[in-house]
Amino acid sequence: MPNLTKSFHEISLTKDEIWDLAVDSDLVCTYYDEFFYELGNWQRDIMIDVVGGIAGKTVLDIGCGGLRFGTFIMEELANGHYYGVDPYHKFLDFGRKISEKLNCVDKVTLIQSKNCDFPSDIKFDFAMSQSVFTHMSEGQILDCLEKLLPIMKPGGKLVFTYITTKLPHAHHDGRLYQEAMPVVCAYLAGTKILQDFATKHNLHLIEDYTEVPHPTNQKVGILSF
Ligand SMILES: C[S@@+](CC[C@H](N)C(=O)[O-])C[C@H]1O[C@@H](n2cnc3c(N)ncnc32)[C@H](O)[C@@H]1O
Repeated sequence: MPNLTKSFHEISLTKDEIWDLAVDSDLVCTYYDEFFYELGNWQRDIMIDVVGGIAGKTVLDIGCGGLRFGTFIMEELANGHYYGVDPYHKFLDFGRKISEKLNCVDKVTLIQSKNCDFPSDIKFDFAMSQSVFTHMSEGQILDCLEKLLPIMKPGGKLVFTYITTKLPHAHHDGRLYQEAMPVVCAYLAGTKILQDFATKHNLHLIEDYTEVPHPTNQKVGILSF
């Protein structure tokens, strides 16, 4: 059973409305169940814990999917302060519909990319990568981290989740996520690549942050820029 999140943030969209938007975007709808709220609230909670709030912050959501994180923070952000990057067009379509329903289209910029094509004209206070390194190879993870270097503000934080255990169903087996995206590598064989990256760039790494426990018990890392 997942841990209960500490908070349950109210948004002006009902569960039925979110479900209908997912259906409209032709998504596999088991994704948009309680976990939408559980993992959305968890991401909101840990952002508040790590950077002290939401208002005024600039946010990059790496592998944003269907804006499970963005849904629970976008109403408090300023225009142009939320960027989501994801390769899968149906997720982005769903996220766009949510931002329309929440009257937040001017706050949200969505970029379709599997190569971490982040914007270059904005610096971020906070980046989130929730259950995304679980879909990337080590090379892709390092490329992602390199691309964050010039766009994170000094002191900016990346929160990322990962697993190190090779679960029976979680390895590179050609499995497709949401019947579309390949799961390249669902676990990190070890955290040495993260440690080496942090050392090389003189960044502070917390490998296993436990203050805000992850609902499905993924490990939580924080990189400070
Ligand atoms: C488990 S979902 C998590 C989505 C979102 N972070 C959330 O919490 O709802 C994994 C996401 O990683 C995305 N993804 C897969 N490969 C990626 C890549 N190379 N770059 C960015 N995102 C990727 C998938 O499309 C999917 O949206």
